[in-house]
Amino acid sequence: MMRRVTTIAETRAALAGLRRGGRTVGLVPTMGALHDGHLSLVRASRDRCDVTVVSVFVNPTQFGPGEDLDSYPRDLDADAALLESAGADLLFAPDASEMYAEGAETRVEPGSISTVLCGASRPGHFAGVATVVVKLLGITLPDFAFFGEKDYQQLKVIERVVRDLDMPVRVMGCPIVRDEDGLALSSRNRYLNAGERVSARVLSRALRRLCERIARGEIDACELTRALADEVSGEPGVRLEYAAIVDAETLAPLGRLTSPGRALVAARVGRTRLIDNVAVGPVPAKADAAVVPLSWRSPA
Ligand code: PAJ
Repeated sequence: MMRRVTTIAETRAALAGLRRGGRTVGLVPTMGALHDGHLSLVRASRDRCDVTVVSVFVNPTQFGPGEDLDSYPRDLDADAALLESAGADLLFAPDASEMYAEGAETRVEPGSISTVLCGASRPGHFAGVATVVVKLLGITLPDFAFFGEKDYQQLKVIERVVRDLDMPVRVMGCPIVRDEDGLALSSRNRYLNAGERVSARVLSRALRRLCERIARGEIDACELTRALADEVSGEPGVRLEYAAIVDAETLAPLGRLTSPGRALVAARVGRTRLIDNVAVGPVPAKADAAVVPLSWRSPA
């Protein structure tokens, strides 16, 4: 049976019991409106850890003015049912006053890795993410924390924060879960109308084409980025925000694809902001065999 709690104190008490006997804890932070992408993280945690705690919290501090905080989809009962059947042990679903007590003013400010790509158009976003994730880690004290490569920059920011702040947790990146047509699953896909849903396919299609070019031997990242940008912005109803090929760890721009890279795109489809990405260039040897490559990832 999954337990459902809303306060920090209940979470700590429940985990103190669940942890007994040296059982390992995995944390899966989410903002709810759960889909198979989220549930893949729950499965990864269940594979790795004895106890899985999932947080559902639409974190106000990571939304900018004019963003979709108020309209963000919320359906806690549906989320709880999905988590129960996925085998989560504990659901922590606090409200904003529980997470941000009166007068709290400390924030975690990640460095240069958070000001590029999505950080350029969403100032303060990754500080909000880093702050809430550090709080969730402090509340649940997990051995492992699971994040999707769907939000690749977020994953790299959190890896960096955990390293820089010496936090005793292993951050686990998990592969992107896609719909049959390639679209990366996202809670925000619910905003798309039928026509937009079709247009949205251009993100994954353009990334797949990019991988095909790379497989044919193209390594000039500027050329490849231009082709990626052109393909996405050529789709009617889609407004490109950025297309980039960067170093897979530092997120600094790459000139030639001779080291592990990541290709990322962000675009507006109608009013909905979507992101997607893929590994490019030589794939580093992975210490963690649990990481399964995308079927259309470029060959090493
Ligand atoms: P949210 O968008 O709900 O995502 C929660 C986790 O699910 C993130 O690690 C995200 O990368 C992962 N995820 C989402 N879609 C996925 C997909 N299609 N395949 C694989 N993983 C996917 O990301 C956040 O919430 C928040 O910023 C959070 C980390 C919870 C902090 O508030």
